[in-house]
Amino acid sequence: CGSCAMNINGKNSLACLTPLEERNSIFPLPHMKVIRDLVVDMKDFYRQYSEIKPWLHSEQPTESHSENIQSPEDRKKLDGMYECILCACCSTSCPSYWRNFGEYIGPAVLMQAFRWIEDSRDTNTLEQLRYVDDAMKLWKCKGIYNCTNTCPKGLNPALAIGKLKKLTSMM
Ligand code: SF4
Ligand code: F3S
Repeated sequence: CGSCAMNINGKNSLACLTPLEERNSIFPLPHMKVIRDLVVDMKDFYRQYSEIKPWLHSEQPTESHSENIQSPEDRKKLDGMYECILCACCSTSCPSYWRNFGEYIGPAVLMQAFRWIEDSRDTNTLEQLRYVDDAMKLWKCKGIYNCTNTCPKGLNPALAIGKLKKLTSMM
């Protein structure tokens, strides 16, 4: 579920995936405001996530009961992104996120923006691309790759960001 994210043995990870005897050092997620003990304030992270409007935008009337069909090939494009549990391990491992805290939206949110852009059923693609094509959003990523190296789910936000940069450059 992502709620036990913390810095374990110098790397952001999930406590539930790390056996107790292997936990030599435990700290809260780096550069986050600590509320208490290992609990950090995630308000900014969730605000930034909500700002990408992370839901399916569709022309289909809400009262319609028909399925919104997606081909297996299109569905496959979401693999490696839909599994994100929003634990924030990636964002809080990124020096650019630390330096521009509260402003740079970070790798987790950027990958989720790309997840909706890649969704063949979503109709908000252009608006989403314009939203992330910004100095404090996509272009604050400096290709450091800490995000991908730390993701406890083995996802690759840096790759998604690279694809996003390519897409916005073609606009
Ligand atoms: Fe956590 Fe990985 Fe999602 Fe980042 S990409 S929020 S590290 S699951
Ligand atoms: Fe940060 Fe990952 Fe980019 S660590 S600078 S978001 S490649």
